[in-house]
Amino acid sequence: MKTLLELITIEMEEAFEKAGYDKALAKVTLSNRPDLCEYQCNGAMAGAKKYKKAPFMIAEDVAPYLKDSSYFETVDVVKPGFINLKLSKESVASYLNDMAAEEKLGVEDEKAPKTIMIDYGGPNVAKPLHVGHLRSAIIGESVKRILRYKGNNVIGDIHLGDWGYQMGLIITELKKRQPELPYFDESFEGEYPEGAPFTIGELEEIYPTASAYAKEHEDYREEALHATYLLQNGYRGYRAIWNHIMNVSVADLKKNYEKLNVEFDLWKGEADAQKYIPDMVQMLKDEGYARYDEGALVVDVQEETDKKEVPPCMILKSDGAALYDTTDLATLVEREEDYKPDEVIYVVDKRQELHFTQVFRCAKKTGIVRPETELKFLGFGTMNGKDGKPFKTREGGVMRLENLIREIDEEMYRKIMDNRTVEEGEAERTSQIVGLAAIKYGDLSNQASKDYVFDVDRFTSFEGNTGPYILYTIVRIKSILNKYQESGGNLEGLKILPAVNEYEKALMLQVLKFNDVFEAVYDETAPHKLCAYIYELANEFNKFYHETKILSEEDEEKKSGYIALLVLARRVLEACIDLLGFEAPERM
Ligand code: ARG
Repeated sequence: MKTLLELITIEMEEAFEKAGYDKALAKVTLSNRPDLCEYQCNGAMAGAKKYKKAPFMIAEDVAPYLKDSSYFETVDVVKPGFINLKLSKESVASYLNDMAAEEKLGVEDEKAPKTIMIDYGGPNVAKPLHVGHLRSAIIGESVKRILRYKGNNVIGDIHLGDWGYQMGLIITELKKRQPELPYFDESFEGEYPEGAPFTIGELEEIYPTASAYAKEHEDYREEALHATYLLQNGYRGYRAIWNHIMNVSVADLKKNYEKLNVEFDLWKGEADAQKYIPDMVQMLKDEGYARYDEGALVVDVQEETDKKEVPPCMILKSDGAALYDTTDLATLVEREEDYKPDEVIYVVDKRQELHFTQVFRCAKKTGIVRPETELKFLGFGTMNGKDGKPFKTREGGVMRLENLIREIDEEMYRKIMDNRTVEEGEAERTSQIVGLAAIKYGDLSNQASKDYVFDVDRFTSFEGNTGPYILYTIVRIKSILNKYQESGGNLEGLKILPAVNEYEKALMLQVLKFNDVFEAVYDETAPHKLCAYIYELANEFNKFYHETKILSEEDEEKKSGYIALLVLARRVLEACIDLLGFEAPERM
């Protein structure tokens, strides 16, 4: 179904044509003076030059052709040449009823659905998840859901950091502690026995210990580097340890992401790309793309129009080791082979932008991806503490994701218990649902590329532009609908009626923007605009709620019209929070 903006634009185009003007001028936008009108067209100003006429006169010529349209209650021409539109109550109600009949609330599927891969999450195996990984997971999950809602085939890939130096460190430390393990025997040929020689708790201790020790001890560091090299070159015993590390870590990661309501279709990682490296390197050499620079193999990616220097893409170090660039390029080889994506989106810290510029250019230039494959970098800013510095624990250490989530849940629990609307047991479950919304909304309501301040007090507040406020509004609507049903009302088959008061109309106008807003969110991959929309929607609902007798309305028809509107408002709000990646509790 067409969005309301599209429908009004069609009316406007006809009016411009009938009045003898180019219909390309008939662009309609939401009003920036909501006190005067709801939608507006500024085309007369744009046409003044072309037609050598005062904009006001053009607008006056066009307006009469709009007066008969059933969409508008008023059409006003205002100096210097705005055409201001107010929708009729009947057309608003009728549009909302059409929306209510649609499963996706009026959003149409992409005409040519694409296969889109999203590379997000990006945790490093054996290292605890920290808040830096939170943004990638939250933003990536929402973007995935938004692209899917529009009917695309979207594949989310976690892209584990599972092949680096941290693996060599763990192996080295393990060898020091448990030299009797069979894996260190050079002749190890066995299969990988069940049961890892460490738990996740131990693993999380082994890594930082080894890492700190390596910084102080050169020979230990050398050994860890060598262990990394052996692992990467197929040494069986180390591969067996690697398998254990992966099993233990991935099980733990799955639990953590599940708590975040984040789900990946693929659990691939850097290690999976390794087998594509040799052929890729050969191709880069054979086709003359790569050159040696002080022993390292590189591909130049500088372009003439660059204002700054863009260093070459590093394919192999002088000792033959692969690098981050290499892995990301080989992953693209793999993705092309397995999925032929039309688009690959990377949701990664914006400080990695240069790396992705290099990789994208290299992949395009060398034909690793097809010319039409779109490679997009969705870089996000840093999550800061109240002091404006990257978020830390109170003691100044790296904040583990688990602890952050616990902190928020506890704060939510306190607030929910203060409200005393639910029992203790339920409050605990509810505080997890609301806590997650607090974190996700707090993050997503900021434009992704910007840094933001993670403010526990503000994010967990039931008032203001927060997740809990949105959920509170949904719960309030649910409760009204429940009461309506309890008193014998049926939610099915109700019709939305023309608005009876200004608050109802304002709520209706906000509900009917949904598919227009969605299109903008989709085109610009901008979840923050969805947050801004539902905040407004929640505000409009609450104003309506305070000004209108709903359940106590005596006129049954009027009441059923209100209820029909609430049913739709709830559906829109729930669709939006689902796109953002969280859900509402029954009560709070
Ligand atoms: N593991 C990386 C990190 O923690 C992020 C991976 C991002 N994705 C990628 N394809 N490079 O910084």
